[in-house]
Amino acid sequence: MAPALDRPLAVGIETFGCQMNVYDTAAIFGLLEAAGFRRAARPDLADILLLNTCSVREHAEQRVLSHLGELQRRRRDGGRPRLIGIVGCMAERLGGALLAPPRGVDLVVGVDQYDRLPALLQSLLDSGSGETVTGHRDDAHYVAPPEAYPTNNSHLVSIHKGCDYRCTYCIVPETRGPQREKSPSRILEEIRRIVSSGGVEVTLLGQNVTAYRWQEELDFAGLLDLVAGVEGLQRIRFLTGHPRDLSERLLRTMAAQPKICPALHLPMQSGSDRILRRMKRLYSRQEYLARVDLARELMPDLTLSSDFIVGFPGETEADFHETLEVVRRVAYDQLFSFKYSPRPGAPAARLRDDVPAEDKKRRLNELMAVQEEVWAGVARAQLGRVWRASLEGRARRPAGAWKARTANNRKVLVRLPDGRPGDMVSVRITGFHSTTFLGELLPKAR
Ligand code: SAH
Ligand code: SF4
Ligand code: F3S
Repeated sequence: MAPALDRPLAVGIETFGCQMNVYDTAAIFGLLEAAGFRRAARPDLADILLLNTCSVREHAEQRVLSHLGELQRRRRDGGRPRLIGIVGCMAERLGGALLAPPRGVDLVVGVDQYDRLPALLQSLLDSGSGETVTGHRDDAHYVAPPEAYPTNNSHLVSIHKGCDYRCTYCIVPETRGPQREKSPSRILEEIRRIVSSGGVEVTLLGQNVTAYRWQEELDFAGLLDLVAGVEGLQRIRFLTGHPRDLSERLLRTMAAQPKICPALHLPMQSGSDRILRRMKRLYSRQEYLARVDLARELMPDLTLSSDFIVGFPGETEADFHETLEVVRRVAYDQLFSFKYSPRPGAPAARLRDDVPAEDKKRRLNELMAVQEEVWAGVARAQLGRVWRASLEGRARRPAGAWKARTANNRKVLVRLPDGRPGDMVSVRITGFHSTTFLGELLPKAR
């Protein structure tokens, strides 16, 4: 039986996982506030706490479960939160099992059911009995209100849900369901609202934005052109692209449209064709590299980042060395690298997880070391260059410094007397620390 609580209740959400969850959290706050719930100033002050969860690797789920254990202890000791709900990918994957002991949460709500949250919370408060509502719906597209965003200058805009690919390691198609597009008119309306509330930059968001297609007539390149037409919008970014859908038409659209930032997050996963086939990534190493070459030819300032998995079933040292070769050849700005983690329900769960844990760990360390070495070369070549960057906010250190970002997604710290987020500055690069550059302000050109 849930404890009796008086309205207005403070609701908090803790967000795990990817940008889709960050966007959904903002949308959920919007829905709950519209229904009269109050937003807690901090998660530890929430009467009702929702965990927006991720299932992508076992470790991601374990983090949530151990945090949940801690929350349950606090609640048993009479503290906050009084009610706990699980939303996001774990809700979809584990469903009602989370209501039962030992997890014992009060509510489980899947990724396509957030519009029902206000009513579900109300009925939980009235009747005290928990519920599980999961499963995919085609009509469910949420819109995060612009005022719910943090004060940096890129506003997330989800353009679709789910994924129709079947990469064998991946649980996302199961947790997020099939790919379903938000209509271009709703996307544009959302972006116009962002601009009219002071936003200048958007990041179009989806598991596979490059596969966006609206009723056979509009592809992602077409959508980018429409978005670029929104008056007052200055910069457009997007996440994540699939190498297979990175058409020449899309690259030419990016190159021709100055509002579209020349930065691509283009997950490769492995440099070995044998492993790419086993992962069902639907491109070869050669095809990937040819796309990268064309993209760089069309956009000389282009920067690239990528995801790689080490230790996929059957990965040999030779396969892994092909990954290292690709990383050296492409010279990414940033890598997100992961040890393969079998996910029950994903197709590769049927394959034997045969790369020993110590080999996965060693390969991951080696991959990160190679990336560091490659990156140091890329970064050193930037010293003395002059960049245009837009201010994002004050940096914690050094004193008087601001965080700024270039169109091609490089971060730079610069001292300046005064500024406003969104202002453009010219900086000369004087150093770098990890992936953050240091720069000095150049006087405004007359
Ligand atoms: N839709 C995006 C990203 C999906 S998840 C894409 O298609 O690229 C983000 C990253 O997590 C993936 O790119 C992959 O590198 C990693 N990942 C997904 N499943 C994994 C698993 N079972 N084990 C390890 N890493 C995984
Ligand atoms: Fe997962 Fe592949 Fe879909 Fe990305 S494209 S979400 S890795 S199935
Ligand atoms: Fe995780 Fe779900 Fe995103 S599994 S990576 S929160 S789509």
